[in-house]
This record gives sequence, C-alpha cells and structure tokens, in this order.
Amino acid sequence: MIKLVPLDTIDATLVETLLDSAFGPGRFQRTAYTIRGRSGSIAALSFAAVEDGILVGSIQCWPIALIGDDGEVPLVMLGPVAVEPAHQGDGIGRSLMTRALDAAATEHLDDALMLIGDPDYYGRFFDFTAERTGRWQAPGPVERHRLLARGRAVPDTGGMLGPRAPVAAQLTASA
Ligand SMILES: CC(C)(COP(=O)(O)OP(=O)(O)OC[C@H]1O[C@@H](n2cnc3c(N)ncnc32)[C@H](O)[C@@H]1OP(=O)(O)O)[C@@H](O)C(=O)NCCC(=O)NCCS
Repeated sequence: MIKLVPLDTIDATLVETLLDSAFGPGRFQRTAYTIRGRSGSIAALSFAAVEDGILVGSIQCWPIALIGDDGEVPLVMLGPVAVEPAHQGDGIGRSLMTRALDAAATEHLDDALMLIGDPDYYGRFFDFTAERTGRWQAPGPVERHRLLARGRAVPDTGGMLGPRAPVAAQLTASA
C-alpha cells in the first residue's frame, strides 16, 4: 500500500536518486532548476510516496517569483513530480499532486501556482493552463505551451521567472 509522508522525513540522497531515474542525469541543466535557484523547497508542500518502506515518488514545491515592471510577484512552483518508472501509471503522480495542492490550500499558498509540464497531464487532471503565462520569460529554454499556472492571483503581466529574493536581501535593498 502506498503512503504519502512529508518529504523531509526521507533521506535526501534517496530523493536525488529517484529524480535521477525519472529525469536522467542532465536534469540540473533544465530551466526549472535555474528558476528555483538555491532556495530550499517548501517543506509543508513537499511529499514522498512510500511503498513498504521504499521511496516510489516525490513532489517538491518552491518559492519563486515573476520579476517584472510591477516588482516581484510571488509564485509557488510545483515540481519536480517524479514517480519510479516501474510504478508510473498507478495513480501515484496524481496522489502526490492532489496532496500538494490540498496542502497549498490549507497553507493559503494556492493563489498563484505554476509549473513546467505537459498540459495534457496537468491541464487534464489539475486545471493548470497557459492562459496567463504568455508574457512570462524564463532564464533558459522553455516550450511556451508547457509554462502552466493556476490560481486567482496568477499575474498575466510580463516578467522574468526566478528565485524569490530572500527577505534579508529585500530589507537591505530598501534600507
Ligand atoms: C509524469 C508523472 C509524474 C505522472 O505520474 P504517474 O504516477 O505515472 O501518473 P498517474 O498514474 O497519476 O496518471 C496516469 C495518467 O496520466 C497520463 N499521463 C502520464 N504522464 C503523462 C504525460 N506526460 N502527459 C500526458 N498524460 C500523462 C497517463 O496516460 C494516464 O492516463 P489514464 O489514466 O487515462 O490512463 C510520471 O510519469 C513521471 O515521473 N514521469 C517522469 C518525470 C516527469 O516527466 N515528471 C513531470 C514533470 S515535473
């Protein structure tokens, strides 16, 4: 039986191995990694799927922002979502996404969610669309139709996606 548990209860090395098997060794070159930067994931929105004590899936969420003419608009980036190849198609990806979205709602962090992924999956099951992302830019290559968002506060303005400025940096900048 699959159990979902907070990701920070799992050995980080095992999570990295799972991500390697789901995305391959070139994953660090992906634009999504540049957007997230070096910030830590949001623990309350990040989960692992475990079967008989074995890690079979994970989801992480990150604090990012769209930086544009209107300043920094905070967003939560979902992903990577990864399921062990042998377990793909068993509903684990959907369970992880559902848990992360429920947690985001509970934490009042579901106003402006985004991800880079297949619209056939994230649109079909979770109502993510590219309707408001047309003017967003990314710090690397991205297929526009895979730049997806969900939530009432998703900005449809132009801007560059990137890590959210740390609070300390914001305080220094405004001092
Ligand atoms: C994409 C992924 C997370 C989906 O998780 P999963 O547990 O395999 O999928 P689920 O069992 O929840 O859902 C299965 C359904 O989604 C569909 N689906 C799975 N991946 C899909 C994709 N990339 N595009 C469109 N549909 C997809 C399946 O066809 C299936 O549809 P059905 O129910 O009509 O048969 C998983 O396959 C994975 O880890 N892939 C490699 C890493 C990756 O691409 N992650 C997503 C980008 S962050």
